[in-house]
Amino acid sequence: MANSDVNSLKVVILAAGKGTRMRSHLPKVLHTLGGKPLISYTLSLAADLAAQKTVLVLGHRAQLVQSGMQDIDKYEIVIQDPQQGTGHALLQCLDFFTGFTGAVLVLSGDVPMLLPETVNGILASHRQRGAAVSVLTSNLKDPDGYGRIIRDEDTKPVAIREQRDLLPGEDGITEVNMGVYAFDAPFLARELPRLSNDNAQGEYYLTDLVLAASGSGMLVTTHTLKDPDQALGINTLAELANMEVVMQNEILTKLMDSGVRIMDPATTYVDKTVKIEADVVLHPMTFLQGETTIGTGSVIHPGAVISDSILGEDVTVRPYSVINSSILEKGADVGPFAHLRPGTHLKEDSRIGNFVEVKKSTIGKGSKASHLTYIGDSDLGEGVNIGAGTVTCNYDGFSKHKTVIEDGVFIGSGTMLVAPVRIGNNSIVAAGSTITRDVPPEALGIARGKQTVKENWAPEFRQKAAKGKEDT
Ligand code: UD1
Ligand code: CA
Repeated sequence: MANSDVNSLKVVILAAGKGTRMRSHLPKVLHTLGGKPLISYTLSLAADLAAQKTVLVLGHRAQLVQSGMQDIDKYEIVIQDPQQGTGHALLQCLDFFTGFTGAVLVLSGDVPMLLPETVNGILASHRQRGAAVSVLTSNLKDPDGYGRIIRDEDTKPVAIREQRDLLPGEDGITEVNMGVYAFDAPFLARELPRLSNDNAQGEYYLTDLVLAASGSGMLVTTHTLKDPDQALGINTLAELANMEVVMQNEILTKLMDSGVRIMDPATTYVDKTVKIEADVVLHPMTFLQGETTIGTGSVIHPGAVISDSILGEDVTVRPYSVINSSILEKGADVGPFAHLRPGTHLKEDSRIGNFVEVKKSTIGKGSKASHLTYIGDSDLGEGVNIGAGTVTCNYDGFSKHKTVIEDGVFIGSGTMLVAPVRIGNNSIVAAGSTITRDVPPEALGIARGKQTVKENWAPEFRQKAAKGKEDT
């Protein structure tokens, strides 16, 4: 074969910019959409393409961006410092294009909803027509902020003009550059070093490569999107919020189409990563985040915030409960106003009631802690009943200690369990006890101060007290 590179591909993702228009300390590509950083969308799109290499250009707070990314070692990282424009960013990757004869696809880290079929479409026509540059374009009702496609009398694309550099008469142009390009690598290697920064922003514009190609008689093609939504870029927090609405609409519609009942899509927020089975009911003001899965028949009542948790079938989460990194087995019942912290494991049909906090603990099958309780670093067996106001005193100021409560135990209300401590099978702990030693199976553990009763004390006290007040 004369040219073995002809169908090969290298991908460059531009993500070095500061994102000035976000007015935020956080780098733009780390702002989240559907619960995931913007950059992760472009990275997973790139992963879907059969690329020989994917190069990621970072600059502004590059370390922070890298620490926010998964599988970082799958990419070539190029640092652009200082950031002098998109053309300058691409120039930093020159080594990867030199001697390469395939196509270079350039994507932006701030265009998160782009579909692989769009990218494959532009690549296919780029190759078929042997273009030097191919650009994804669209006609926007409001082209504000985008580079405009300049065409000659024969409607051939000849240049891209940034908004701030528009010439008189060009502001009516609604066809814009969506920021996705395919380049012929040798063209890129030759023209990139020749870019100038003679423009309104004093930056090296990648978009000037279109003029470079057309000016030297090379082919520029455009690939026009009818519906531009998928290629919209994020430049401001308002645009991010608008896109979140679009994305939530997409996620929730898909869920409803698969049989999930969503009472109020306008106030329900589900991350892209969440999986929900049919016949789950989501009430309003629900937030489902991260790697959460919910089994069929479960009902999530208003105000729940659930992240990175696995809920089995027929789980009930009552209003205003917060659940994080926990496992809830079939039939578990939580809330209202419960807080399950990381490492909580509720076994089948267990119940955690109002104002109960659980952390790093297992609650056995059918066990209950219904009111005002803290359970931390504990292991509860089956059929345990924890009375109101029970606290596992798991922390001595230096380390955490474990509480074990075996099957069938009854803990009376207001009990302090000072860990490490073990309460044996079927034993009973009397209400109001402060338990500091193990209680053996089938026993009673009782540890309270002895009660004193003084007959007729109260009226005498009141009389004395009232007299004292008169005297002063
Ligand atoms: C760019 C295009 C514009 C197009 C729009 C589409 C240029 C000059 N303009 O404008 O024609 O309509 O995208 O969304 O290319 N970046 C770097 N290094 C830099 C500057 C930017 O890596 O020095 C990265 C950014 O992080 C971002 C991408 O390049 O991911 C685009 O930069 P941005 O400043 O958002 O360009 P736009 O003004 O939107
Ligand atoms: Ca942009």
